[in-house]
Amino acid sequence: MNREHQKKIAAEKATEEIQDGMILGLGTGSTAYYALLKIGQMVKNGLDIIGIPTSDGTEKIAVEQGIPLSSLSVYSKIDLTIDGADEVDAHLNLIKGGGAALVREKIIANASQRILIVVDESKVSHIIGTSFALPVEIVKFGWEATQREVNKICKRSDVRGGIVNPLITDNGNYILDCHFDGIPKPEFVEQQLNNIPGVVENGIFVKLADQVIIGTSTGIRYMERSQ
Ligand code: 5RP
Repeated sequence: MNREHQKKIAAEKATEEIQDGMILGLGTGSTAYYALLKIGQMVKNGLDIIGIPTSDGTEKIAVEQGIPLSSLSVYSKIDLTIDGADEVDAHLNLIKGGGAALVREKIIANASQRILIVVDESKVSHIIGTSFALPVEIVKFGWEATQREVNKICKRSDVRGGIVNPLITDNGNYILDCHFDGIPKPEFVEQQLNNIPGVVENGIFVKLADQVIIGTSTGIRYMERSQ
């Protein structure tokens, strides 16, 4: 089973948890995309839900799929969020933000009663931060000073897109991709980074995911949060 198929089966499995009347957090990325397609089909077949997207890109896809949308201005609680991740460990610590949507993803995650993370098997790691650079969103003002502070915590960081043509997030900010030799204490590093003036948010998600649904070469595998 190739990687694309693994993403699809994981995402579609997660949509089986959706029930009529739910407010749904709609994730960003190539795996969450398959969930959006499936939710679109379910809505066409009469499912009554409202989605809250985690990025402008997801909003556009959701509109194309006919998924009714709203926002956190209207709803303070989200029943269920289905989102992807870039790296996942056995404690359900995550790295997110490969699609540059980490700020909105974390806000939506924080407002969600239940979070299902959908990944292919390449995303599973012993310790997060070993195979994927941690995205950190920073404001443009004084970004070089912010990067110098961030570099005291990681090995090195790169401005996503490069200094000449940096990627601009949906929130108008830059992303630093920060390299580590693993992040054994993710909660600590998450706080350390967020204490730096100029850092908006980082892609470490701790104690947020309830279940990880993994598409593998032999089918679906699950990892659950223990507490
Ligand atoms: C976007 C994200 C994505 O969920 C993450 O990058 C996974 O994406 P993909 O499913 O395309 O590998 O965090 O900010």
